[in-house]
Amino acid sequence: MTKKKIGVLISGNGSNLQALIDACTKADYPASISVVISNKADAYGVNRAREHGIPAHIIRHEDYATRDAFDDAMQEMLLHHSVDIICLAGFMRLLSPVFVARWRGRILNIHPSLLPQFKGATAVRDALAAGVKETGCTVHLVTDEVDAGPILLQARVPMLPGDTEESLRERIHEQEHRIYPEAVKMIIPA
Ligand code: GAR
Repeated sequence: MTKKKIGVLISGNGSNLQALIDACTKADYPASISVVISNKADAYGVNRAREHGIPAHIIRHEDYATRDAFDDAMQEMLLHHSVDIICLAGFMRLLSPVFVARWRGRILNIHPSLLPQFKGATAVRDALAAGVKETGCTVHLVTDEVDAGPILLQARVPMLPGDTEESLRERIHEQEHRIYPEAVKMIIPA
């Protein structure tokens, strides 16, 4: 089996990156991670990658004059590592339409809500504030529209009495870690 090469883009803790790393250690998983890129110098996910011997690079968006220039720097790094599929895993930067077009059908995102509900950067807080009975998480293909694009997998997470943003986020994370590796498999032909 020739494994597809994943490039993971992160901005923070990288627990979803960890779930992907763990899936990729299995012999029958059809992909491996060839590079991790963080736009934040202090992202803990960079340590996770390096502990597993995965090349991890910091490309700070502040160091580039334009979004296109930043995206071009990432593109160069991804091509250098022969990446086939990009996984956004808590990557909190908008990507340019040119970049998204280059990776059409091969770039996935995970989002902590049942899209199309609660798009944006505060989805967990927004679900709590809205008083909904359940929320969840979604893995979808990335298109020009933020937090939209064809849905690959979703998981439901019920609200529990006394839930805080932290307790809810923790249960959503558990489901994210389960569905992200599954969703990656879905776009890889058997
Ligand atoms: C995840 O919950 C992911 O769904 C969310 O950031 C978190 C990253 O956690 N992404 C977004 O909100 C994107 N709009 P992690 O760094 O531990 O994987």
